[in-house]
Amino acid sequence: MTKVVTFGVFDYFHYGHLKLFERAKAMGDYLIVAIQAEEYILKYKPDAQILYSQEQRMELINALEVVDEVAVYTDIDKSIKEIDFDVWAKGEDQNHAGFQAAEKWALEQGKTVKVLPRTPNISTTKIRQQLIKD
Ligand code: CTP
Repeated sequence: MTKVVTFGVFDYFHYGHLKLFERAKAMGDYLIVAIQAEEYILKYKPDAQILYSQEQRMELINALEVVDEVAVYTDIDKSIKEIDFDVWAKGEDQNHAGFQAAEKWALEQGKTVKVLPRTPNISTTKIRQQLIKD
């Protein structure tokens, strides 16, 4: 069984997130979605105005048929070592130093890392800005 993992915040759950999950699942048999713990979101994005709590994000994502398991991660370079997976479906924007270190580790372990392009014209930031405007 090929286990695929993908990491992200997934606040303001949107169509781009769903498409990412579908494309990730198509790369294997079992999809693990790792959501970032609330205090760590603020560590990396101090101005993030969080809508859904960690528990709510877990509940939303767990309810999706395409998702087999939901996990919580903290620092990507540490958490990557704690999840049992074969393929990492990595977002094209996931490039900061922690993600680079995690990718290096994954490749050294013989795991597959596939970069998935973003779905155009939709993002958490865009939704948040639209809500503020209205
Ligand atoms: N993602 C995607 N297509 C989009 C938006 C996000 O494929 N239109 C992917 C990202 O590449 C990442 C994952 O979803 O792999 C989690 O992204 P997240 O940061 O939670 O959502 P964004 O909408 O990118 O949030 P922000 O606007 O704050 O960057």
